[in-house]
Amino acid sequence: PTVAQGPLSTITLQRYLSSLVSSDESLREMEGLMLSIAMACKTISTLVNRAGINQLTGLETDVMGTRSGSQSNNGPNKKNKPKKNIQGEDQKKLDVLSNGVLKNALKFTGKLGLLASEEEDEALLIESALDSRYVAVFDPLDGSSNIDASICTGTIFGVLEDDSVDIKNEYKRNNDDCVRDEDAECVNTMDALLQPGSQLAASGYCMYSSSTILVFTLGGSHPVIGFTLDPQLGEFVLTHPNMRTPKRGSYYSVNEGNSWLWDASIRHYIDKIKRGEGQSKKRYSSRYVGSMVGDVHRTLLYGGIFGNPGDVQHRNGKLRLIYECSPMSFLVEQAGGGSCTSEGKSVLEVVPEGVHQRSTCWLGSIEDVEELKTYLVPE
Ligand code: AHG
Ligand code: MN
Ligand code: MN
Ligand code: MN
Repeated sequence: PTVAQGPLSTITLQRYLSSLVSSDESLREMEGLMLSIAMACKTISTLVNRAGINQLTGLETDVMGTRSGSQSNNGPNKKNKPKKNIQGEDQKKLDVLSNGVLKNALKFTGKLGLLASEEEDEALLIESALDSRYVAVFDPLDGSSNIDASICTGTIFGVLEDDSVDIKNEYKRNNDDCVRDEDAECVNTMDALLQPGSQLAASGYCMYSSSTILVFTLGGSHPVIGFTLDPQLGEFVLTHPNMRTPKRGSYYSVNEGNSWLWDASIRHYIDKIKRGEGQSKKRYSSRYVGSMVGDVHRTLLYGGIFGNPGDVQHRNGKLRLIYECSPMSFLVEQAGGGSCTSEGKSVLEVVPEGVHQRSTCWLGSIEDVEELKTYLVPE
């Protein structure tokens, strides 16, 4: 696709997308979705940057019987219980806020019939848009454990085509707007969310760090493209017109605190590359932020390999398949990189069984991922 001409920093996201749509009208709905996601990310960026000022750091609390934060009615200083999400994680205030911002932005596009979020127990069916072409999955605030230390966080999103419109309309006539696993009709409706990453129509992330950068791809012949938020303009401007991952890197990015729990094959691989005994004969340095968005963004730009391998205590690792592993693997592969599970399979071929299912995940430079695969023992 031809990118609008002119110095990069004058090409806003809006101008880029409208130039795409003028050459391919079928992208009209996707343009609306991307603009609403970008608007939500601008809002989340402001919330993250001002978290300390607005007392929005710390945990979301769930005072029994009263709204969180108000005086509980059964005696002073009742310990507020941290609110947990369906994954059993203590929710941060900003997890909940970011989720609300993104959910509303997507709902009000009127272009999405179904949403799944890390912070929503169940998928959300949107009555007003049941016959929409797309569904969306998202991690509203990734790396939220870093928020109180002002270390980089992000938002991850994926957009899938929805081929279950008629079933959704049938479901709408008979049910409320919550999609429950056990209800027969909605299992089909849920299918639109439970697609392998290879089916993504778009995926991307927004990183909230020293700058706010929106990176996404529409797949197919489209590049991986990056826009940086210009705070003076309040606009995302084009800064990375065609992101390609280096074929080989010299960074590995994994939580070595779990290495005593890893499979021997993975310990062996990391040991080799850190000693300069891998294929490139270079000694690899360790870089690990603890926010997938930050670690993947650096890997995308500098090369190397990122992994959340799983271990004897967490066979499927920590990352969730549909709104962390799939969108990030889709994007890195579109940028010429590679990705695989700890069994050496393609992440993009893993068919999800539930919206919060976890998966092991490695991604990064194609030659680094291919070298890792020579160590992995398929299950
Ligand atoms: P989230 O904050 O959305 O729950 O995701 C956190 C994830 C991911 O961002 C990061 O790569 C990983 O957790 C880090 O896990 P460990 O701290 O176990 O390494
Ligand atoms: Mn979380
Ligand atoms: Mn996450
Ligand atoms: Mn999250």
